[in-house]
Amino acid sequence: MDKILVTGGLGFIGSHTVVELQNEGYEVVIIDDLSNSSENVLQGITAITGKTPIFEKLDLKDKAGVEAFFAKYSDLKGVIHFAASKAVGESVQEPLLYYENNIGTLVYILKELKKLPEASFIFSSSCTVYGQADELPITENAPVKQAESPYGNTKQIGEEIIRDTCKVTPSLKAIALRYFNPVGAHESANIGELPIGVPQNLVPFITQTAIGLREKLSVFGDDYPTPDGTCIRDYIHVVDLAKAHVVALQRLLGNKNKSNYETFNLGTGKGSSVLEVVKAFEKVSGEKLNYQIVGRREGDIISAYADTQKANNELGWKTKLSLDDAMRSAWKWEQKVRG
Ligand SMILES: NC(=O)c1ccc[n+]([C@@H]2O[C@H](COP(=O)([O-])OP(=O)(O)OC[C@H]3O[C@@H](n4cnc5c(N)ncnc54)[C@H](O)[C@@H]3O)[C@@H](O)[C@H]2O)c1
Repeated sequence: MDKILVTGGLGFIGSHTVVELQNEGYEVVIIDDLSNSSENVLQGITAITGKTPIFEKLDLKDKAGVEAFFAKYSDLKGVIHFAASKAVGESVQEPLLYYENNIGTLVYILKELKKLPEASFIFSSSCTVYGQADELPITENAPVKQAESPYGNTKQIGEEIIRDTCKVTPSLKAIALRYFNPVGAHESANIGELPIGVPQNLVPFITQTAIGLREKLSVFGDDYPTPDGTCIRDYIHVVDLAKAHVVALQRLLGNKNKSNYETFNLGTGKGSSVLEVVKAFEKVSGEKLNYQIVGRREGDIISAYADTQKANNELGWKTKLSLDDAMRSAWKWEQKVRG
């Protein structure tokens, strides 16, 4: 049973990935500082898998703490690194906080992995690296555009740091996964997305509005050059996304990678507009959503959806769940959390 470190394993995507890793028989060690999550998530994971992962509460900005962790767990076979700060708006106000938390921690972990005879590393990157791509769907070869925010920049710089390190470290194998828009929750409603404060993302804002926590959803702009005028994104069910991490890890552990640094887009390949997401929610929940069209929001790109061919063909992974599945599970989760 290979032992895998999942940093940020109590967060939204991390917790779903821990479930899929445990389902595949891996032994999971989670590092999380609980800055954007709760220890209760461990109970949710246990309720689904029947196994409680090892949990080490640690702030990865603590370099000595990271060193001590790797000394204690010298038998790790792989690391999936989710831990990061992710609020785009906050990153504009507090860039150094983002560079320290998202870049500093990455460097500390890579320094430890460099010492190991062999290491496999999966990094949470984002489709934000493409900005408004010139061609849709977006392939992995699309140029990386200047980042719109310090948060986005941490993903670009993070990828460069990993690429440069892999170049001179043959013992290190890494994959950067560029997520499109993760949504939904585990169908059991034992784990899901739990934003602290006002949600930054569309789907938790929708479910919080429907449950009465927010008065109404603001739809930012209906005059974009898209069929219904609202922005288009590629919404991927978090369980599909979590499974892609297991597949990517197995690729590295089985030495099936083509080079020791690879990137993959993770999306469905299908774009959905904001109004289509609202309609999907209304359909599966039977609720009428209170929403209002307001002006465009600065920094929003018009349209982004993935070309999934590389992930489908090289990784052998494909999404199975639909937008309706995602909205149904997100609603079930919201009702459970507020119930
Ligand atoms: N959710 C998205 O829309 C999205 C899209 C693209 C990329 N990503 C990336 O995926 C990763 C996971 O995102 P998420 O949505 O699950 O976020 P999340 O906030 O739910 O999870 C991140 C977890 O990391 C922990 N953490 C943060 N800083 C830490 C530190 N210094 N030490 C230890 N733990 C720390 C937090 O407490 C949290 O549990 C992040 O790197 C994020 O940037 C997310």
